[in-house]
Amino acid sequence: MLVELELKKGEILRIVGPARVDVLSGSLLAVGAVYRKGESFVVHSLRSYGIKALEDTKIRATLGEGASVEEPSEGEEVIDDWVNVAKSVHEDPRKIKKVIIIGPVESGKTTLTAFIANYMMERGSKVCVIEGDVGQEDLAVPGTLSLALPSRKFLWLRELKCEKVRFVGCISPSHAQCQLHVLAALRELIEEAENLKCDTIVVNTDGWVSSKQALDFKVSIIRWLRPTHVITLSNDIYNTMRAVLGHNSFTVVLKARSPVKVKERSRDERRRLRAEAYRKYFSEGSKTVNLRLGEVGLISSCVLGGQRISIDEAITLCPSLESVRGKVLFASLYGQYLNVVLSDGPHNITCRENEDQSYIINAVRRNDLSGYLVGILDEEGKDVALGIIEDVDFSNNVIKVRTPYNGKISALVVGRIKLSPDYEDTGRVLRCGI
Ligand SMILES: Nc1ncnc2c1ncn2[C@@H]1O[C@H](COP(=O)(O)OP(=O)(O)O)[C@@H](O)[C@H]1O
Ligand SMILES: [Mg+2]
Repeated sequence: MLVELELKKGEILRIVGPARVDVLSGSLLAVGAVYRKGESFVVHSLRSYGIKALEDTKIRATLGEGASVEEPSEGEEVIDDWVNVAKSVHEDPRKIKKVIIIGPVESGKTTLTAFIANYMMERGSKVCVIEGDVGQEDLAVPGTLSLALPSRKFLWLRELKCEKVRFVGCISPSHAQCQLHVLAALRELIEEAENLKCDTIVVNTDGWVSSKQALDFKVSIIRWLRPTHVITLSNDIYNTMRAVLGHNSFTVVLKARSPVKVKERSRDERRRLRAEAYRKYFSEGSKTVNLRLGEVGLISSCVLGGQRISIDEAITLCPSLESVRGKVLFASLYGQYLNVVLSDGPHNITCRENEDQSYIINAVRRNDLSGYLVGILDEEGKDVALGIIEDVDFSNNVIKVRTPYNGKISALVVGRIKLSPDYEDTGRVLRCGI
């Protein structure tokens, strides 16, 4: 359906996708960017945005199924509030702006990240955007953090090209291990942004904010990233961050209102979107590469990255393995774990009481190893791509990994994400990883 609308200067509308908006005359503000006569933008079917006419403006909206143009009721739209927030960031006299966005799930974090980026770009700033939300697929894929250097205005992070990526291997920041990797990856991406000479760095974060642990994590991010601004999308988080940072802090805490959520994604929809992102990543020119077990580095991998021992040594340490001797393909030691990979068969082997109990037996099947998402490090140990472990052939000592990366691989980083053949990331992960 096509509609032509005339907006008076200052008038605000809400566009619910899927829709395309063409500016026929005048100019308007959408997600912090100015769209002028002859320009257009597309609102994805899962998104909605507020727009504001900067002068008398005529638009043509092409509306897809389920799309609409709505007149928000008084005070419902947040666009003016967000302009004020963006303005205070812009007017801060410090040369480099490092902005962290914090808010609950679906509170507008991703949109506000784009808003600040566009607003600052419009004013001549070189902007880096860092996607720090591990569960998101907007830039790169879930389980990674990434950096983009937008060259023109945009509505959604999905429109941007991912410039740098760091594999963190988890999608839930509530795990302590995940937080460790997220924090380190964020620090590195900030460094990348500084090397790229960005004078505005906008960092999006995950929506885990409602518990003490969640707040501790966000406070740690602030502590170690030292942002010039933290923009909060809830009163509660605003008040907490003010209390945490005090009044004379280097970091200015700002409050932005949350938009009325028109398009909410269900749990299933989120899972489907994540699967789509993995599928897209691996369907574009990926192939299987063979890496030598024993030569390639295996970081964060308890089983494959452990000290390899012979099957006889494993049986000496845990004689009850004798009963499955013929099935043991591989054995290794890692900390308190004695890992064995079996061709098939039981999972729940324990050492008998009179045996040396200093090791915990971690028995996994060969099949359990496939499907794990891995980060790929190049010869300098830098994150360059992602892969999926397809199989480990222990008789030839070969790890088969599917990846779009063509260069030399020095190590794999194994995380806690296991993909099904349909790219669903809800598979059960082994106790101590693989
Ligand atoms: N000004 C707005 N008016 C109406 N809906 C909005 C507005 N800004 C964002 N939205 C919609 O709200 C939903 C949540 O926004 P998003 O930025 O993805 O939040 P988060 O990143 O916190 O999960 C999205 O569907 C988005 O399109
Ligand atoms: Mg988001």
